This record gives sequence, structure tokens and C-alpha cells, in this order.
Amino acid sequence: MNTNYPDKLKVLYSRQEIEAAVTRLAAEITRDYRERNPLVVGVLKGCFVFMSDLVRRLEFPLETDFVQLSSYGRGTDSSGKIKIALDLKTPVSDRDVLVVEDIVDTGNSLAFLTEYLQQKSKPASIKFCCLLDKPSRRQVPVPVDYRGFVVPDKFVVGYGMDYAEQYRNLQDICMLSE
Ligand code: IMP
Ligand code: MG
Repeated sequence: MNTNYPDKLKVLYSRQEIEAAVTRLAAEITRDYRERNPLVVGVLKGCFVFMSDLVRRLEFPLETDFVQLSSYGRGTDSSGKIKIALDLKTPVSDRDVLVVEDIVDTGNSLAFLTEYLQQKSKPASIKFCCLLDKPSRRQVPVPVDYRGFVVPDKFVVGYGMDYAEQYRNLQDICMLSE
């Protein structure tokens, strides 16, 4: 979807700003991961647009895999119980794992995933790359190693992110007001 957004969508980051941020993140990651053949793990579904842009700018050998988490319980955040809905297929032991997320909000998802990966089989390292960080909402501390933007406490959609599964195909990141 392109630019004729309805009134309830306000562009927060344009596609040009997103591209600049992804390019910067890719340069930082390329500096750190050269020669390490990391396993880049995307957290579905929100990561899929960001990760596809990011990995194409990483100039070193790498492998990719995906996990999907589901949180059940009530509400719109992940403070309920989290479980693995779709598991990795690649062994992580002794691998340098780079987790790619769309947005870190409460931190519950990434805290859960860290714990899960560590007890599954010890990775050599785990780092996090998040396009958006909403630190004002944090409930659990999460070390975000590569961060695109720090966002205000607003609900955002587009560039992979959804509201009720809609808007993932927007090229810009928009604030949604219902
Ligand atoms: P957390 O576990 O609360 O840190 O957030 C987990 C997930 O909630 C993120 O990976 C997103 O998929 C989703 N999420 C959090 N905030 C937003 C938002 O503003 N828009 C869309 N999805 C969000
Ligand atoms: Mg996500």
C-alpha cells in the first residue's frame, strides 16, 4: 500500500527515514559480525519486512531462521503467558544468534525468547536488533543492541507491523488512532 492513508493513520517514519535507519543498522551489524556466520533469527510475523531489507544489506555470510511467539491471556500486550508457536529449525548451540524484531514494547517477548534459547542449547552469543524501541512501556529489562528508532508510547503499524493483522503492507510506519 502506498501513500493515500486514511485520517486515522499518521506517518511517524517515512520509507526514506526507515531506509536510512536500516542502512545504519546494517553497517553497525556488518562491523560486528564479519567472519562469524551468525544465525539471524526473525520473530514472526512482524519482522518479515524489516528483516528482508536488513539481511540484504549485510555484507557477510549468514544463515536465517524464524520463530513465532504467541501470547495468550487478555489484552493487547504480551504480559500474558508466552509460548513458542513456531520453533526454529536450526540448532543454536555455539552459534552467534542475532534476533530481529519489529518493536520491543514491554520486553516480555524478548525476555522469554532469551530464556528459551539459552535453555534449548547454549548459543555462543545472543544479540537483539529492533527497528523500534518503546522504552516507556518496558516491564522487563531487555538489552537492545541495535536500535532503529526510539518511539513514543503510541500504537504503530506498517512496515510489517499490524493491528488485528491489518496494515502490515504499508511502506511507511504510521501511528494508528482508532
Ligand atoms: P513486547 O513483548 O511487549 O515487548 O512486544 C511484543 C510484540 O508486540 C512486538 O514484537 C510486536 O509484534 C507487538 N507490538 C508491540 N507494540 C506494538 C505496536 O505499537 N504496534 C504493533 N505491534 C506492537
Ligand atoms: Mg514482533
